[in-house]
Amino acid sequence: MSEKEVLILGIETSCDETAASVVKNGRTILSNVISSQIDIHTLYGGVVPEIASRKHIERINYVIQEALDQAKVSLGEIDAIGVTYGPGLVGALLVGVAEAKSIAYAAKKPLVGVHHIEGHISANYIEHSDLKPPFLCLVISGGHTHLVIVKDYGNYEVIGRTRDDAVGEAFDKVARAIGLGYPGGPKVDKLAKEGREDAIDFPRASVEGAPFDFSFSGLKSAVLNYLNMAQMKGEEVNKADIAASFQKCVVDSLVSRAMMACKEYHMDKFAIAGGVASNSAIRSAFEQECSKRKIQFYHPSPIFCTDNAAMIGVAAYYEFMAGTRHGWDLNAIPNLKLGER
Ligand code: KG4
Ligand code: ZN
Repeated sequence: MSEKEVLILGIETSCDETAASVVKNGRTILSNVISSQIDIHTLYGGVVPEIASRKHIERINYVIQEALDQAKVSLGEIDAIGVTYGPGLVGALLVGVAEAKSIAYAAKKPLVGVHHIEGHISANYIEHSDLKPPFLCLVISGGHTHLVIVKDYGNYEVIGRTRDDAVGEAFDKVARAIGLGYPGGPKVDKLAKEGREDAIDFPRASVEGAPFDFSFSGLKSAVLNYLNMAQMKGEEVNKADIAASFQKCVVDSLVSRAMMACKEYHMDKFAIAGGVASNSAIRSAFEQECSKRKIQFYHPSPIFCTDNAAMIGVAAYYEFMAGTRHGWDLNAIPNLKLGER
């Protein structure tokens, strides 16, 4: 390795993926190992926190070793350990944080705690070498719906957020209601392609006095009511039409606010991030709307949209270069706010 290279070992255990990655100079992914627990949690229709923590403990050492092996890098060559310390499931986060602290202590490496959302946003740097702050980013995942101005690396202003359900949560709940199973997002995405998006007029909620905030619980309830009514009347429902009409409402809510924010904050670069950013309808809507407005549109490949450790390694690199170091008292913070230390 040449002297200028900076190698980060990234660790992510905030939900149901045990993941580790080696990232070179902030943008080159040398390895990206993800051990998914989806099979186990599918049996229960959602993530069971206690099981997630146990599985992380079982797998974390192997996943980290595999990440180092695939990158052909020894622990001694790593410059810093980056780890997600919030937000997320506290028991799950604790496994990654304890592991990162142990390795950092034993190998005498700096420790850099990373905000999970900062990781999702940073996933956009991996495949877009031209992308640099400032830009606007819409973070849409199972737990978060945030409209964020990325002022600089590590410098964020949240200008909009959901008042109730996160987008991914709404996708998962609607999927469960129409019998598609967990995780619902990709299944709704697929089924919606066979349906008509104007078949059912579901509501598009807005939050008074907060033009960039989102609300999805009304939409979710409207889908559930629609299903109940049909069941009471003994009518057959068209699941593909429900999926397409629901998804169209989500797309409209996201696109209208994000485009309004680009205009208001004079942003000519816009990115999406998080698990829901792999949704095909959301991507194509943004592609179209951004090109109309001459806004450069960025999105990560699906593997970097859902939880992974490469994005944590990238975020940790920029934090590390800016001088961020955490001590042995670093703790898991389940409700960590973006921008907090
Ligand atoms: O970012 P992520 O892996 O975990 C969190 O940090 O929450 O996001 C997971 C979420 C789940 O709700 C899943 O249903 C959703 O992302 N998702 C999708 C798609 N792929 C994953 N939602 C809609 N369309 C998709 N293609
Ligand atoms: Zn996530």
